Amino acid sequence: MANIEWYDSFSVGINLIDEQHKELLGKINALNEAVDKHQGIDKILNTLTFLYQYTDVHFSTEEKYMKELDYPGKKIHMEQHIEFFEMIETMRKDFEEDGATRALGESISTYLGNWLITHIKSIDFKFGEFLRETGHAGINA
Ligand SMILES: [Fe+2]
Repeated sequence: MANIEWYDSFSVGINLIDEQHKELLGKINALNEAVDKHQGIDKILNTLTFLYQYTDVHFSTEEKYMKELDYPGKKIHMEQHIEFFEMIETMRKDFEEDGATRALGESISTYLGNWLITHIKSIDFKFGEFLRETGHAGINA
């Protein structure tokens, strides 16, 4: 499964968030690679843990500003974040139970990668617009 590349069209116009999204894609790609190269279940679970931890860092950043600025779309946005965490957890269970099967490897790009890009291009775009319109384009962690 090919790595997911970053395109400028993924930019939400907020540097901090763009950088975090790039990092997150990198973690998804690392997991993808670990499965592709049959690096063993321990290594795979490790990369999954890194992905989980960084997702937490990133979502916390977004949610911090959503709460601080009383962003009107925060409820639906945060629900989507929970959905992503749940996907990672389901994936962890599947890896633990079934090992690194080919089907599971394919679902990394299909589910995690596609979910993230769809999320960025819809719901994060709106939040980026809100940050710019309210004069918060220059936020830093
Ligand atoms: Fe988000």
